Formats: sequence, structure tokens, C-alpha cells
Amino acid sequence: MRKKVIAANWKMNKTSDETRDFFHNFLPLVEGHDRDEIVVCPPYTSVDAALACSKGSNVAIGVQNVHWKAEGAYTGEISAPMLLCLGVKHVIIGHSERRQYFGETDDTVNLRLKTALEAGLTPICCVGEVLEEREAGLTDDVLRRQCVRAFHAISSKKAAKLVVAYEPVWAIGTGKTATPELAAEAHAVIRREAAEVFGEEFAANLRILYGGSVKPDNASSLMAQEEIDGALVGGASLDPKSLAAIVKY
Ligand code: PGA
Repeated sequence: MRKKVIAANWKMNKTSDETRDFFHNFLPLVEGHDRDEIVVCPPYTSVDAALACSKGSNVAIGVQNVHWKAEGAYTGEISAPMLLCLGVKHVIIGHSERRQYFGETDDTVNLRLKTALEAGLTPICCVGEVLEEREAGLTDDVLRRQCVRAFHAISSKKAAKLVVAYEPVWAIGTGKTATPELAAEAHAVIRREAAEVFGEEFAANLRILYGGSVKPDNASSLMAQEEIDGALVGGASLDPKSLAAIVKY
């Protein structure tokens, strides 16, 4: 049985004060919930507040990116040792907004992924096709390419903590959700690719999350799919009640 992960991607939202407010309201709503792993990924500036508020709770804190170098002249970047020192355990890698707006490529995703795994962080590696690719029938090819390049030169032993998120770009922030069946098909493609690279046993244990307009009212039908091992939630994760409702799908 793969334990599901419900991960919140706050993107560029919430000051540290707003973060404290969120946890004040959210934690009582999910207290004692251990059916699923719960991870909240605030912006860096709110990580400290999030860690302080969630200490001793069932909610882990992650971030939204990591650089592949440990230190150096990389203005504006954050390294794995910095995250470990804070107590961060998870990191989102290769989100489509990073790919779309900040020059992230399959190769830099691979570098970040290797670094996160080396550091003992749990990476949530995002893949997904844009609308034109889906319409052109290229979804499977795109997913396979993104996975092969992301997983390049990583051993199955090193990759043990890997989590993948399937996020069709056309479903992110648009209110359009992939149907559970369509998401499950894409997940199966990703799992097959993981089996090619890391072996069948690894693939059978790999958690693949779905992301893209997950809301309280569609979470249970998505989570009912055997192929779907959790959710990466953007917009609906900003409200404590709505994230709690998704956690309790
Ligand atoms: P959304 O974002 O839930 O707002 O569609 C998901 C994501 O980008 O991870």
C-alpha cells in the first residue's frame, strides 16, 4: 500500500503572519489524521514560521525549489544544506511555472533532483504536458521524455525517496481538472517509465501525485483511482478549511 501524500504548493502567497494564521486554523482541522502524509510548501520567507507552528504536528514543511550547488555566487538561490539546517524535509522540483517563467529545463530538473536526493530531502518532481502537446497526441511522449531526463544517472537506491507529481499544465490554476481516468492513464505512463529506469519493484512503490485544480469537491474521485497516490494542491491549499477538506477527501 502506498501512503498518499497531500502536498500544498502555496507558490508566491502568504507572509509569515498569514502563515501563522493559516496553521492556527488548519492544525486543529487535521489533528490526528495519519491516513495520508500532509506537506505544506510555503515561500522561503514563511518557512521559519511554518516550521515553528507545525512543530510536533502531523504536518511536514517543504519548499518550492532548491539549487544544485551547496553554496556560492548564485544570487537569489537556496541550497540543500540551508534547507536541512532549517528542518525542511520536502522540496518541489521542476514545477511548470519554473519551467515556463524561470528557464527551468529537463537538465536543471535533473541536477536539482540529484542534489535533493543526495541531501536526503524528499523531492516532489513535477512533470506534465501543455495543452498543445495534449491536443497533438504527444502527452505520453512528453511525460516519458521529462521522466527519462529527470531521472538520468540516478540509481534506484539513491531515488528511494522520490515522489513524482503529474501536473497537466492546462489544468493548473484554470479550474479544469483532468478526469480521474485521464490522470490515471498519465500516471500509468510515468510508472512504466519509472519501471524502465529504476525497476519494477521501485515503480510499484513510487508515489505519483496528481496536481491541477484539485478542490474539495473533486478530491475524492481523483483519490479513488488506484494509480493516484495523492495531490499537489495550489489555489485550494491557501484556505485552511479547503485544504483540510482535501486532506480528508
Ligand atoms: P492549482 O495548482 O491547484 O492552483 O491548479 C497546482 C500546482 O500548480 O501545483
